[in-house]
Amino acid sequence: MDCTKRLEESKIQNPKSKILIAPSILSADFTKLKDEIQAVEAAGADWIHVDVMDGHFVPNITMGPFIVEALNRLTNLPLDCHLMIQNPEKYVDRFVKSGADWVSVHPEAEGDIHGALETVAKLGAKPALALKPATPVSAANAFAQQIQMLLVMTVNPGFSGQKIMLECLPKYAEARKAFGPEMLLQIDGGVTGENAAQVRAAGAQNIVAATAIFKSPDYAAAIKALRGA
Ligand code: DX5
Ligand code: ZN
Repeated sequence: MDCTKRLEESKIQNPKSKILIAPSILSADFTKLKDEIQAVEAAGADWIHVDVMDGHFVPNITMGPFIVEALNRLTNLPLDCHLMIQNPEKYVDRFVKSGADWVSVHPEAEGDIHGALETVAKLGAKPALALKPATPVSAANAFAQQIQMLLVMTVNPGFSGQKIMLECLPKYAEARKAFGPEMLLQIDGGVTGENAAQVRAAGAQNIVAATAIFKSPDYAAAIKALRGA
């Protein structure tokens, strides 16, 4: 997709250029997933973030396409699937066919990352790249023409509830400079109401949060604190 179209699309989904909040269901109560989704939706969530872990790329196993398929029936919010898996090219089609709107893959993973992104786009979802904290922004250069969003992680992938690595924040300005105004920049890992202002000032536009939302007694207040004024 050319840059103009990408910019138009990002305006459509983000008309006021507001900060987008993507609750990660990793910290939701799975005994009542439907209630949890409805609650964050009512509280103002913009997207639903789905953390997919395979026990190989990261030392944790979470969920797969059938959870995405269930979520797709529970909400109309965009489903943002963050694939922390090896060989994503073997699985991306199943996620898109289950209802994923966005699919992020890691360049540090084994496999055909370019092919995975190509499949996501071909099937009509939006391709994104996710970088671990130690991976330089320049690792995205080779993928820049294929992606609509860059996720710069601020914890090592694998678990929710970790502390934000503030030393990663300068990477947003670097990414903005390298990839231009149309690239959506997402942050994931340890974002809370306390550090959200710093995160937004650094240039993150799309904020993923698991603990700060699902472990809070008031989802609407938590989302408001992340989004800012
Ligand atoms: C970590 C995941 C994150 C995680 C965020 O590997 O990618 O999305 O759920 O959790 P918090 O917000 O608790 O750091
Ligand atoms: Zn994530």
